[in-house]
Amino acid sequence: MKIQPATNLQGTINLPGDKSISHRAALFSALATGETRIENFATSADCASTLSCLEQLGVEIRRENSTVFVKGVGKTGFKEAENALDCGNSGTTMRLLAGILAGQSFDSVLTGDESLSVRPMKRVIEPLSQMNARIEASENHAPLRIFGKNPLKAISFEAKVASAQVKSCVLLAGLNGDGETSVLEKTPTRDHTERMLRWFGVDVEETEREDGKLIAVQGAASLTAKDLLVPSDVSSAAFFLVAAACLKGSEIVLPNVGLNPTRNAIVEVLKDFGAEIEVLNLTEIGNEPIGDLRVSGNGNLRSKLASNVLRGKIIANLIDEIPILAVFGTQIEGGLEIREAAELRVKESDRIRSVVENLRKMNARVEEFEDGFKVEKSELKGASVESFGDHRIAMAFAVAALFATGETQIADAECAAVSFPAFFETLRSVSK
Ligand code: S3P
Repeated sequence: MKIQPATNLQGTINLPGDKSISHRAALFSALATGETRIENFATSADCASTLSCLEQLGVEIRRENSTVFVKGVGKTGFKEAENALDCGNSGTTMRLLAGILAGQSFDSVLTGDESLSVRPMKRVIEPLSQMNARIEASENHAPLRIFGKNPLKAISFEAKVASAQVKSCVLLAGLNGDGETSVLEKTPTRDHTERMLRWFGVDVEETEREDGKLIAVQGAASLTAKDLLVPSDVSSAAFFLVAAACLKGSEIVLPNVGLNPTRNAIVEVLKDFGAEIEVLNLTEIGNEPIGDLRVSGNGNLRSKLASNVLRGKIIANLIDEIPILAVFGTQIEGGLEIREAAELRVKESDRIRSVVENLRKMNARVEEFEDGFKVEKSELKGASVESFGDHRIAMAFAVAALFATGETQIADAECAAVSFPAFFETLRSVSK
């Protein structure tokens, strides 16, 4: 993919449906009784992996453009799949589905692509094994062979990693538990699972404690179909927010973006660094806050905070936006440092390595740490960079290319389809 520099961005962009919410909408409506209509379902390849796994488990799914109809089978109505279930590149598909399949009375095999096959699965194997499901996995990596059991043993689980996927996996398994299953979350992570389980009628109990939040579900709970509208994906919005904020004279509107407080730190952080972003028409749909974002490029980006370092609890809220924040760092006075973000090393690629390598190729001054990086304000130069097979790296460096002098080439940029198949066309259509 070849990208030329841009002067500014203009227009209204309708972004695809949120990936995290779409996965959950598909999985939870399959667990429900009755048919659910899901509007604005993500166009992402990852969410297509979730739908195809569900079909192989006997769930009837009909797709009309971006509307998906799912005929729920109830918590234990799935059929044993004839073949291994291919989760593609999608960690969310594998980890959430593992929680559901652990509580079925049949066995399943979950596989993934090269990247997913080296991502850590011990974090879900451990709690599911405590719940009495047996899981075989060589070195705790996919393929996972899950020997399901029903009911599972209800447990109280303390999450060691801040991960919404792990939390969701355990809560989903808990829906087939023999009592109350709880997760103690020390660092808040995205809470789409809790919100959507409630939408489907499940009583999710949350207790704030000194050591974190305790989130509990009952094994006796059941889900009832209820139509849903998926908000536009704030993580996809992030690329356009950064591009427009950095290019003076830009005026962009992003309608109906999901603004869940466990996901929207990107908007707050960009504002803290001087970006002009307005939230309009804020409302709530399907238990999720949603609003329009208007961004204006003012050409005056500098921190309003005491430091240019991001670390601590905010990292989990920003985790998928860090590649584009690294690019943002090259455009702001004083640059940007990200720490306590070692989780980035086990995403679709080692995202610390990927951003550092690509930024250096584009002439940025950047230092790598085990748990993050520090990037200085830099004049970017067009270069040949890699996507490392990682959708968010491909898209982040397409934005970097807009700020650079000369042309940038991104190898293997098609992987953007994992979350945003129309990304490059969309970027082209608003770039001036
Ligand atoms: C996701 C949770 C995050 C995020 C991923 C989607 C989810 O992963 O990085 O893109 O939908 O629950 P972790 O839970 O592993 O941090």
